[in-house]
Amino acid sequence: MGKTNVEQEEGGTTLLSLPKHVAIIMDGNGRWGEKRGLSRSEGHFAGVQAMEKIIDACFDMNIKILTLYAFSSENWNRPKDEVNYLMYLPIKFFKQKLPIFMEKNIKILATGNIEGLPKATKRAVVKAVEETKGNNGLIVNFALNYGGRMEILQACQKVIKEIQDKKIEVDQVDESLFQRFLYTTGLPDPDIIIRTGGEQRISNFLLWQSARSELHFIECYFPDFDKKSLAKVIYDYDLKHTHYA
Ligand code: IPE
Ligand code: IPE
Ligand code: MG
Repeated sequence: MGKTNVEQEEGGTTLLSLPKHVAIIMDGNGRWGEKRGLSRSEGHFAGVQAMEKIIDACFDMNIKILTLYAFSSENWNRPKDEVNYLMYLPIKFFKQKLPIFMEKNIKILATGNIEGLPKATKRAVVKAVEETKGNNGLIVNFALNYGGRMEILQACQKVIKEIQDKKIEVDQVDESLFQRFLYTTGLPDPDIIIRTGGEQRISNFLLWQSARSELHFIECYFPDFDKKSLAKVIYDYDLKHTHYA
């Protein structure tokens, strides 16, 4: 978290401690739809629209990394039609948005078991990551087919393999070595994790990486979460982390 000089006021300077990495559990799409007499899928569609605005807001606010929990490894248990729709949304989203991401120097990352996605979804995600890999502006990291326990287990398996292959010694295994084997390798841990939708749980999200994150549970459903709601969270964070003289 850097101290950024965001505002030059007459008679003083306002300092703002920006979180570097904001992660969002985008929950409440289904209930948002149901509450309006719409389908859950219409809720997911509205969720994507809200997500686009939140990406723009992070871009405007100079946040460096935004991680978005889009589909958990448990979400396969939902009705087939809903899963199919959720797997179609990234295809449509990246097709529409990739040129804009290139224009805005946005880099796309994917965190999760990408191999386990349906072919067309995987292709769209891999293409977005590939095409934007040279960009060095805002990082938008999609947690897709993501499960924190599975991520840690896979990291353990990889570490054990390295030991068996005599590439590393057991007592070399410390936090910094271990996290190189996680999906999020190279990314700093999130400063803030926001969950919309009113539930106060973590749902298998970034279990290792959230060790020191600030948790913000927001009542509104994700489609109603907007730039103003995000700015409020960032403002609260700033109040706690900036020492105003
Ligand atoms: C979150 O919204 C989006 C995904 C899990 C993909 P939900 O679909 O969980 O919406 P609610 O929590 O049932 O309202
Ligand atoms: C968490 O929401 C996962 C995503 C937002 C992608 P869920 O709705 O799937 O979580 P639970 O089932 O309520 O814990
Ligand atoms: Mg939910």
